Amino acid sequence: MKKPLEMAHDFLAQVITKDDVVVDATMGNGNDTLFLAKLAKQVYAFDIQELALQKTSQRLQKAGLTNVELLLQGHENVDQFVTEVKAAIFNLGYLPSADKSIITKPHTTIESLEKLCQMLVKGGRIAIMIYYGHEGGDIERDAVMDYVSQLPQQEYTATIYRTLNQINNPPFLVMIEKLERYRHG
Ligand SMILES: C[S@@+](CC[C@H](N)C(=O)[O-])C[C@H]1O[C@@H](n2cnc3c(N)ncnc32)[C@H](O)[C@@H]1O
Repeated sequence: MKKPLEMAHDFLAQVITKDDVVVDATMGNGNDTLFLAKLAKQVYAFDIQELALQKTSQRLQKAGLTNVELLLQGHENVDQFVTEVKAAIFNLGYLPSADKSIITKPHTTIESLEKLCQMLVKGGRIAIMIYYGHEGGDIERDAVMDYVSQLPQQEYTATIYRTLNQINNPPFLVMIEKLERYRHG
């Protein structure tokens, strides 16, 4: 069975083409940035830690990928850099190899999600990996679940992928798709 992160990548890969602009909302070590750069025309990758930009920049150079804008910016400012997005990914929480006190926060995560849902083209998708074992992680998890559950069903479909029998707060995946056509009812 696929792990949630593998599922997240599959979910986005199904819709991303070489004509598309996409967002990595939480760059970290650059795993998702690299993944997106191989599929899309242009990637905008956000992080508030200089370390994330350094690590990701090195990895992109090694891979010979030049279609990424690395931004030392909070993802809540996404609207200052892009207007239309085909896909976006969030990996919430902290960067395991760095300062564990630097974590994503509910209000900025939700602000960014609101903006990205608006900017999403029809058929566009957002994947949110939710890690909630750290302090405050449960509050962010609940805020994201609340927000996503209230998206209008005529415009978006929201789905969850989560293991049911694993201990220690396993991360899970929330997927959002902006519908091609408005649904009635
Ligand atoms: C779980 S890590 C991301 C892992 C990453 N996707 C990877 O492939 O390695 C979460 C990251 O979010 C970053 N972060 C925290 N608040 C942020 C914000 N407001 N905007 C953008 N990134 C933020 C942290 O600095 C951290 O690097």
